[in-house]
Amino acid sequence: ISLKSYNTFGIDVTARSFVEINGLAQLQRVLELKAYPNKFILSGGSNVLLTTDIDALVMHINLKGISIVEETDEEVQIKVMAGENWHELVLWSLEQGYGGLENLSLIPGNMGTAPIQNIGAYGVELKDVFVSCAAMEIDTMELVAFDQEACNFGYRDSFFKNEGKGKYIITSVTLKLTKKNHQLNTGYGAIEEELKKNGVIYPTIQDISNAVVAIRQSKLPDPKEIGNSGSFFKNPVISKKTFEKFKKKNPDAPSYPVDNGQFKIPAGWLIEQCGFKGRRFGDAGVHGKQALVLVNHGNATGKEILDLAEKIQEEVEKKFKIKINPEVNII
Ligand code: EPU
Repeated sequence: ISLKSYNTFGIDVTARSFVEINGLAQLQRVLELKAYPNKFILSGGSNVLLTTDIDALVMHINLKGISIVEETDEEVQIKVMAGENWHELVLWSLEQGYGGLENLSLIPGNMGTAPIQNIGAYGVELKDVFVSCAAMEIDTMELVAFDQEACNFGYRDSFFKNEGKGKYIITSVTLKLTKKNHQLNTGYGAIEEELKKNGVIYPTIQDISNAVVAIRQSKLPDPKEIGNSGSFFKNPVISKKTFEKFKKKNPDAPSYPVDNGQFKIPAGWLIEQCGFKGRRFGDAGVHGKQALVLVNHGNATGKEILDLAEKIQEEVEKKFKIKINPEVNII
C-alpha cells in the first residue's frame, strides 16, 4: 500500500503490509505476530521523511479518546490517546476554556508523537503542560509510565529520541491544563504584534490561539496543499566562543541566548543567507516564506528532499562554520 497520504511530506513510498491500530489489545496482538518480524510505527506522519519503501509491517497508531482524569477548580488533567490529532485537541481545549495549549495551535501531527520531539512554538513547549505518558515496550509488550523526569525533555528532544529510540510505542499522554488564572505567554514578538494589529488589549487564550494560527498561516505551508514537515532542521545552539566569532563576521544575524551561556541561531536565517529561500530543484524545494521548511512541490522523492537537505547543510557549514542538523526523522 502507498504511504503517500500517511506522511505530511506526501512522499509516495510503499509499505510491505499495513495495519491500523485501534485498541491496546490489538496493539499487543499485532506486536506478537511472528509472521512479521519487522515492524514500523507510524503516527501522524508529520515528522518523518520516508526515503525508501518500508519492508515491514507498518503499524498506524489510531488510538482515540480524550478523558478527564483529575480536576480541581483551578486545573484539569486530561488523558489523550496517541492517535488524537494535535490541533483538534487544541481546539477542543479552547472550547472547554482550558489554557496551556494555545501557543501550540496548528502544529501538524498527533498526540503520540508530540513528546518524542517535545513539540514547541512561540515560547511554549509540550513539556510545560506534560504530566506523564504511557508507552508500550515493544520487546515485553508491557505498558510503562514515564513522568517528566523520565522523558528527559530538551529542545526538540527527549528520551524517546535517544536511549528509548525504537523501543516504545506511546499510547497516551496526560496533560495538565488551567481552568482559570491562565499563564498567558505573549512574550514572542510576532504574537504581540498580531494582538496589537487585532486591537486586543487583554488577550484570552482564544485570542492567542488566533494570533498563532494567523502567524503560522502567513509563513508555514499547509501540508494539505504542499507537502512538508514543518521545520526541517533544528536551530543550532553554539558556544559563546563560537558565537562571538560568528557575530563579528555577521553583525546582523538574529540570535537568542539559551542555557549555559550558549546561543541559538535561527537556521532559517543561515539558510536564507546561503540563497536557498524559495529555490526549487525539481519538485524538492525550500519554502519561499520560511527557509527552515523544505517542501515537496508534488512528486519529489524522499531521496530528492534528502539530497537538498544535505546540500543545504554543506553550504551552511561552508559559509558559517556552523553545523545544522535535521529535526525530522529520516527513514
Ligand atoms: N529567519 C530568516 N529567514 C527565514 C526564516 C527565519 O531570516 O527564512 C529568521 C528571522 O530573523 C526570524 C527568525 O529567523 O526572526 C526566527 O524565525 P521564526 O520566528 O519563524 O522561528 P524559527 O526559529 O525559524 C522556530 C521553530 C518553529 C516554531 C517557531 C516559533 C525550530 C526548529 N522551529 O522556528 O517550529 O513554530 O520557532 O516558535 O525550533 C517546527 O518545529 O516544525 C516549527 C515550525
